[in-house]
Amino acid sequence: MQPKLNVLVVGSGAREHAIVSKVLGSSRVRDVYVAPGNAGTAMIARNLRVQADDIEGLHRAALENHIDLTIVGPENTLAAGIVDRFRGTNFRIFGPSQAAARIESSKAFAREVMSRAGVPHAKGEAFSDVGQARAYLQQHGAPVAVKADGLAAGKGVVVALTMDQALAALDDAMVRRSFGNAGNTVVIEDFLEGPEVSLLAFSDGKRVVPMAPATDYKRAYDADQGPNTGGMGAYSPPPFFRPDQVVWVHQHVLQPVIDELAQQGTPYVGILYAGLMLTRDGIKVIEFNCRFGDPETQVILPRLQTDLVDIAEACIDGRLDTLTVQWSADPCVGVVMTSGGYPGPYETGYPITGLDELDDGVRVYHAGTEGVSLRENSGISRLFAQDLPALPLDQQLSGSVQTSGGRVLTVVASGPTVEAARALVYRNLKRIDFAGAHYRTDVGLPPTEPIGELPDAPLQLPPGA
Ligand code: AMP
Ligand code: GLY
Repeated sequence: MQPKLNVLVVGSGAREHAIVSKVLGSSRVRDVYVAPGNAGTAMIARNLRVQADDIEGLHRAALENHIDLTIVGPENTLAAGIVDRFRGTNFRIFGPSQAAARIESSKAFAREVMSRAGVPHAKGEAFSDVGQARAYLQQHGAPVAVKADGLAAGKGVVVALTMDQALAALDDAMVRRSFGNAGNTVVIEDFLEGPEVSLLAFSDGKRVVPMAPATDYKRAYDADQGPNTGGMGAYSPPPFFRPDQVVWVHQHVLQPVIDELAQQGTPYVGILYAGLMLTRDGIKVIEFNCRFGDPETQVILPRLQTDLVDIAEACIDGRLDTLTVQWSADPCVGVVMTSGGYPGPYETGYPITGLDELDDGVRVYHAGTEGVSLRENSGISRLFAQDLPALPLDQQLSGSVQTSGGRVLTVVASGPTVEAARALVYRNLKRIDFAGAHYRTDVGLPPTEPIGELPDAPLQLPPGA
């Protein structure tokens, strides 16, 4: 029998709660730790008081807790080089090296890789001189996409409909330096239109295996109105993205990028997330991420039937070909509940009610939540499982959780159809409440935009597809 593993999950969102839940379902696992986690992960695993960007702290935590496998949620931690640090001391960690993570941490780098690999993406150019960038914009005209090159917590992309907006976005990044060094270089891209699909994939550095596709909802309000957010919901699979299109993306996007990175000497191990747009001119890449998506993960992982720990280990060992990754046919819908006002200013500290009144099979993944200890006599204290054994679930769930962030919960359900899953989610969402709670009501509805077709390209099935 193989020895049981201690697993560390890095991050504190609903994505990480979903990863922890999946890891706990593995027969290979002994203890699961989360750094720093949230009230939801504290109920099922052991939260550690280490922030997700504290690489030395995480390294110490891995040593102290005899961690055998680390899975990283946030891009910042990967871009800061946690994988290189851990591997350098023989810790097994699932994610790309700092150099390979540039596929997300530098949009200019991602464009270079795509150009070399012949992967379809928006036309555009990168600039580190604001004068040249302005001249290019003036000549290009609007609409246009203006993107800070580096990591900007999802705020670095402006789709400018007018030249004034485009110039303001450029100044914001390059002159006002709103994103710090992330705006040293700016990418200006043609404006593309069409429905979006996230196709995440597992890679062992040589091979790449697509996951079930998903669509996320970035705008704050129904019908894609309002400001961009960290994600208001997702569902999997989007019915308009066909299996032959998954195969096409595998062959024309994912595998060429993995091959190109291997050839450059920066093999990509981990999750490769392709943000795709189905344009009238074919499928194009909008962005790559170097990690699990949020909130896509909350609707993808519940559908995963193969052991996630086995997959992560196979990727680390470069033997992804020895596994078959299987998915449940049942669609999954997830809706994010946010604090009122998010993504602008919002208040926290409100008790969350109704979490114990949900139908069987409905999952709640926590993000901006904190547990309030029921055992402390001296007022309220934040619950960390490190100090306090996790409370029984029923106690935890009965009014002992309060809001502590913008995105608070992702509520997820599966069903035989998207419509059935959607109905179940929304029926249960009505039972959950906290002061100022907001959510979109249209997650899982069909897109209103026209759907692009595949370009004329030979469709050869890759081995194993
Ligand atoms: P990103 O941060 O790269 O995911 O971009 C955020 C969002 O901006 C994407 O999900 C798209 O909706 C939009 N976007 C990015 N690039 C373009 C583009 N070239 N044309 C139109 N919309 C874009
Ligand atoms: N859902 C978009 C992201 O994770 O970046």
